[in-house]
Amino acid sequence: MNILVTGGAGYIGSHTVIELMNSGHQVAVVDNLANSCEKSLERAAEIVGREIPFYKADIRDREGLSGAMKAHEDRTGQAFDCCIHFAGLKSPNESIRIPLEYYDNNITGTQVLLGELIRHGCKNMIFSSSASVYGSPAVIPVTEECPKGQCTNPYGWTKSMLEQILTDLQTADPEWNIVLLRYFNPIGAHESGLIGEDPNGIPNNLMPYITQVAAGRRKELNIYGDDYDTPDGTGIRDYIHVVDLARGHVKALGAIGNKCGLAVYNLGTGRGYSVLEVVRAFEEANGVKIPYIIRERRAGDVAVSYSDPAKAERELGWKAQYGITDMCRDAWNWQRKNPDGLSGR
Ligand code: NAD
Ligand code: UFG
Repeated sequence: MNILVTGGAGYIGSHTVIELMNSGHQVAVVDNLANSCEKSLERAAEIVGREIPFYKADIRDREGLSGAMKAHEDRTGQAFDCCIHFAGLKSPNESIRIPLEYYDNNITGTQVLLGELIRHGCKNMIFSSSASVYGSPAVIPVTEECPKGQCTNPYGWTKSMLEQILTDLQTADPEWNIVLLRYFNPIGAHESGLIGEDPNGIPNNLMPYITQVAAGRRKELNIYGDDYDTPDGTGIRDYIHVVDLARGHVKALGAIGNKCGLAVYNLGTGRGYSVLEVVRAFEEANGVKIPYIIRERRAGDVAVSYSDPAKAERELGWKAQYGITDMCRDAWNWQRKNPDGLSGR
């Protein structure tokens, strides 16, 4: 297929571009580089041994986006078959401070994008959603039937609202095929160590914080709460290797090809690890000590969230292959080789 990848220079997008190209698909990336840099695509191109067509544009800029799509269609003589839509702002904490920017970027951006896809004759989309739409999950492990919950930040609400907008669109026009992928906690990096997670400033997420402690950039890990109702008191999450997650998108293209209408899948491993278990796994995989200190619980965190990924296996033929040791090894390999990331931010 000929695929428009929005946000393809980012963490999950760049890994997905590699898996798509390795599976024989053609891609074009549109990204405004708000949270990434072109170097990630140069590195991805090095990995696949082919050029990756890139158009710098903001998805909220109708003219810029349309111009990029037209330029690519003219250049290749092919219309887009599907859009994989990663572009958006993604920090739950930041979204509490600047909610309007999150609603504008994520919701307005997606609405502009949908309008342009329709104008260009493309009615297929795979959307990056999040386990955060479940709020504090009513059922563990979380199945897709689990009711959506109260999100704890504007970022989560943008994902929840966008799922609703996409559902309404598909109901109104059944020619659309839309796959909502609810990611659990992507970590790790490409095994080459050439691309990986490149957070801006102090990392919010657990694994980039751990790798920065390992690299000596931060003194110790803050563990947010050891009094949850879990075996060791720390929060439990479903960590998934970013390459497994990327491959889930390739499989989701099968559902698009089979004219799925609207489909929803969890992408996780089905196995939860506590914060302390992740710290131990990282130390064992890499032979590096991670000093930590127990802090107060972080506002908005849930105690336990892990997926039931059976539906994706049954219907897409997708199952995560990598375990926590692989994730810890690849995360550290990337950080070690790129102590300041790619953009030096
Ligand atoms: P990322 O920030 O690395 O990638 C997002 C990319 O989108 C960046 O390259 C950024 O420059 C680009 N972008 C942002 N706004 C844009 C705009 N208006 N126009 C064009 N490009 C724009 O994030 P990621 O971790 O790769 O996440 C990808 C998607 O997956 C996001 O939608 C995110 O919300 C979602 N998601 C991520 C996680 C996670 O833990 N990483 C979990 C669940 C869902
Ligand atoms: N944690 C720490 N110290 C840190 C960072 C995190 O103890 O420095 C703990 C958290 O309290 C939590 C666990 O590690 O128990 C995981 O936290 P993350 O911030 O890595 O991940 P979250 O589950 O909070 O959220 C992430 C993304 C969301 C996404 C969600 C999907 O940030 O965007 O996964 O499950 F929606």
